[in-house]
Amino acid sequence: MPTVNVHLKEHSYQIIIGRQILSQLGKALTSLNLGTDAVVITNPLIRRLHGKVLSTSLRKSSFSVQFFEVPDSEESKSARVAFELLGRIARYDLKRKIFIIAFGGGVIGDLAGFVAAVYKRGIPYIQVPTTFLGQIDSAIGGKVAIDLPVGKNLVGAFYQPRLVYSDVGLLTTLSPGQIRSGLAEAVKYGVIGDRKLFDFIAQHYEKLLSGDLLCLLKVVYWCSQIKVKVVEKDEKETKGIRTILNFGHTIGHALEAASRYQGYQHGEAVALGMRVATDLSLQMGLCAAEEALRLQCVLSDIGLPSEIRKVRLLDILKAMHHDKKFKGQKNCFVLTTGIGRVKVVDDIPLVYIKKAIQSRLLTFS
Ligand SMILES: NC(=O)c1ccc[n+]([C@@H]2O[C@H](COP(=O)([O-])OP(=O)(O)OC[C@H]3O[C@@H](n4cnc5c(N)ncnc54)[C@H](O)[C@@H]3O)[C@@H](O)[C@H]2O)c1
Ligand SMILES: [Zn+2]
Repeated sequence: MPTVNVHLKEHSYQIIIGRQILSQLGKALTSLNLGTDAVVITNPLIRRLHGKVLSTSLRKSSFSVQFFEVPDSEESKSARVAFELLGRIARYDLKRKIFIIAFGGGVIGDLAGFVAAVYKRGIPYIQVPTTFLGQIDSAIGGKVAIDLPVGKNLVGAFYQPRLVYSDVGLLTTLSPGQIRSGLAEAVKYGVIGDRKLFDFIAQHYEKLLSGDLLCLLKVVYWCSQIKVKVVEKDEKETKGIRTILNFGHTIGHALEAASRYQGYQHGEAVALGMRVATDLSLQMGLCAAEEALRLQCVLSDIGLPSEIRKVRLLDILKAMHHDKKFKGQKNCFVLTTGIGRVKVVDDIPLVYIKKAIQSRLLTFS
């Protein structure tokens, strides 16, 4: 099975990627010495779609299995849900040796990882991502978090899983819209570090959107390798290297916040953020016009949005100031110098930013 090794000294682990491999998860866990009792954190939809295969596989390898469900919503990444879960886990954890399985998309991954990080000052957990975004991004790298009413991911930790187990077969139950949202992040990986990946997506986006498992597997493997390379160099985001993963996210996160997380899927917001960052790169003379056009065209081919709707310029700028990426009074953008290359630029004059956002606003305000 394709495997990516994540080298982080005593926090090293493997990412195992394959097609229809969920039924072999139990076997993959036996040598990891995680414990005997699996606590599976998931939501009702994912449990209904794929829970049986997971629990059968674990029980076959002599693990006990307990599911704890949380509502299917970003609101589950809250202190209330996290503490409810911690209480249920503590009551269950009598005479057992438990470990946690995060079985879901980024919401479940972030929440379950957070719970694993703080329960008894940290117990083992593994990630079994069930969304495309989860498999190429959120399950990798050990960032776990819950949200506060004032902002996303404000309470969290760096806490690495003991295994990431990505079965692309699980992606067959996603809608094309959900795959499209994940594809925005895949395009991001191409722009920040690998032109060949970008070209592959440009050629095969239709197959990817239709759920072609071989193509999805290739992209999950490719993106995992790119993210791992970045994370290995800067595990805890102290060296500024991990910043490049934020290409498209300065404006993307601001759009999500300004629309109160109702207006856009994450990938759609990131796509708009990448468009604005590319417009900025052009304005600042960092990037050739043909490169910028190619990126904009591929995003359009995939069906990702090109216009910012229902959000006011002022609200986007305000949200940008509140973001973690704002350092003191200085903004911070990842810009592109051509597909496959990026550059982190601080303190861009506000007129440039306004111009780049305004050119994409459907209604000026
Ligand atoms: N930790 C990180 O490094 C990191 C990185 C990127 C994003 N994130 C976080 O990830 C979250 C977004 O994750 P997401 O896009 O996976 O969204 P999500 O977890 O909300 O999942 C999207 C939807 O897909 C459903 N779903 C999941 N798997 C399914 C399957 N196999 N078949 C059918 N439906 C399925 C879910 O129930 C949900 O309704 C955000 O909270 C974001 O902050 C974290
Ligand atoms: Zn993202």
